Amino acid sequence: MKRIFSGAQPTGGFHLGNYLGALRNWVELQREYESFFCVVNLHALTNPQDPKELAAKTREVARLYLAAGIDPEVSTIFIQSDVPEHAELAWILNCIARVAELERMTQYKDKAAKQREGVGAGILNYPVLMAADILLYKTDLVPVGHDQKQHLELTRDLAERFNRDYGETFRIPEAFIPKVGARIMSLSNPQKKMAKSDENPQSSIALLDDAETIRRKLKRAVTDSGTEIRFDETRPALTNLLTIYRLLTQRTPQEIEEHFAGKGYAQLKGELADVVVEFLRPFQERVHGISDEELERILESGRERASGIARATMEEVKNRLGLHGAHSRN
Ligand code: TYM
Repeated sequence: MKRIFSGAQPTGGFHLGNYLGALRNWVELQREYESFFCVVNLHALTNPQDPKELAAKTREVARLYLAAGIDPEVSTIFIQSDVPEHAELAWILNCIARVAELERMTQYKDKAAKQREGVGAGILNYPVLMAADILLYKTDLVPVGHDQKQHLELTRDLAERFNRDYGETFRIPEAFIPKVGARIMSLSNPQKKMAKSDENPQSSIALLDDAETIRRKLKRAVTDSGTEIRFDETRPALTNLLTIYRLLTQRTPQEIEEHFAGKGYAQLKGELADVVVEFLRPFQERVHGISDEELERILESGRERASGIARATMEEVKNRLGLHGAHSRN
């Protein structure tokens, strides 16, 4: 069976973009692939975090995976820092990565531009840890949103370089980026993607937002000029709202345009709010329905399953590099 690996950071509010661009597809694909879904808490450390909050968010993201429909009987859900091989392989890959190729990453450039006190080395090395996550599991497919495409290309380059220099070890993974929903935009600025790190809470809908907050945010969402409600690339704010509507109702663009013919923005925003609230209500109930004990049990069994594979890959990598431990020397 082919393998999937993907993950999300336990920072900020997990939003509709994360769900529509990534999580939704994990749920769809988990029965066709052997799947690993990780809460990448080591990646979160690239920005300052409050330790208590990080611990709580890490559990919360695991709950969101479960509530979205990741089935722990068929998929492995685990926490990145529970499997030390992620950091171990990241070090090794850092030794074959080049600073110039890391500096070319657009996410790095964007983040670096915002850091006034100097850019943390973790931000530069972030995609190398991501490559380690993926390569450790000999992953075939990585379902992600559009913003991770460049990181996936780097992952492939690092895997190919390692295989060339030290012998065939890693599988070369493919990105799975959905045709619709890979780039959900900010509600307050349709030129920017919906992002956990956005300082404006108005810009995104968190999966745990209450009904009133969702209605208010959608009501205030920016719109473009023009009145007709239709999918139109030249009106990115409208197209973004319609894309969210489309994915949550699973109606075709034609059906949606017919439905809104003769109606205006207020109607669209109101109906979209109903759809989002109706979608999130049972979702939020499931989040709160998972007991702490059950969650810990799932994460512990995830840690065990993930560790077994990660350890085997690291053994192979160390042998390739001449890093034999005392136990394997004879
Ligand atoms: P993160 O935590 O920022 O986002 C989790 C997933 O959500 C997708 N996403 C979006 N999709 C559509 N529209 C948006 N506005 C939007 N914003 C985010 C992301 O593409 C991602 O798939 N580096 C990763 C986490 C990671 C990872 C990995 C992913 C670490 N190691 C290994 C895959 C494989 C990140 O920061 O995602």
